[in-house]
Amino acid sequence: MEKEETLKDGTKVLVRELHLRDLDRLMRFYSTLPPEGRKYLRVDVKNREIVEQRIKLTKTGNVFRLVALAEDDIIADGALELSGEEWRKHQGELRVIAARPFQHKGLGMIMVRELYFLAVKKNVEQMVAKMMRPQVAAQKIFRKLGFREELLIPDYVRDQSGKKQDLIIMTCNIKELWNELEHFYSDSDWQRCR
Ligand SMILES: CC(C)(COP(=O)(O)OP(=O)(O)OC[C@H]1O[C@@H](n2cnc3c(N)ncnc32)[C@H](O)[C@@H]1OP(=O)(O)O)[C@@H](O)C(=O)NCCC(=O)NCCS
Repeated sequence: MEKEETLKDGTKVLVRELHLRDLDRLMRFYSTLPPEGRKYLRVDVKNREIVEQRIKLTKTGNVFRLVALAEDDIIADGALELSGEEWRKHQGELRVIAARPFQHKGLGMIMVRELYFLAVKKNVEQMVAKMMRPQVAAQKIFRKLGFREELLIPDYVRDQSGKKQDLIIMTCNIKELWNELEHFYSDSDWQRCR
């Protein structure tokens, strides 16, 4: 898939699948993230081998990765992970990260919407988002989309500095997610110029 989108400030972006040939672009994108934001990601995205491995995982059919590009630079990265386990086959885990200069312009919402479309195609019924407690913006965007906080596990994960952090698990029924996405898009002024 390839889609052209327009952010709230008029920036044109292209949303498409991530490929192995994007590795250099992706490493450049991760290197521009502020250390404070990188700290709470589940893997060390400055490690090229790990990042390459993650792209290759898309070949398993359980992981889907999308990127948004402005000009030729990646400015957002999103993933939908389906569980390989039988008892969680109805679930899809969502992850999004946007470059700082492009935040608050609707980019996060665009990525979530495209991942939502993918999830529907894959018959996902329940969306899951996991984050560390300091990832406040992520909690806000997911709450806004109708996700509920289901569980907080104290000191369950370690951030990239090695410090233990609380893990928050949020879930949302896929149908409710569409209601919120639809509401967001019909409400937003910028959507009319797309
Ligand atoms: C979460 C993230 C992807 C949001 O990206 P974004 O492009 O800024 O999101 P949008 O512009 O689409 O914002 C959508 C809504 O989310 C909320 N939101 C986004 N960032 C926010 C922030 N820093 N503080 C409060 N609310 C925020 C707002 O309600 C916003 O709607 P509004 O602008 O109409 O008020 C971005 O903040 C990010 O990359 N964070 C670091 C990585 C991370 O925590 N990822 C989540 C792990 S699952």
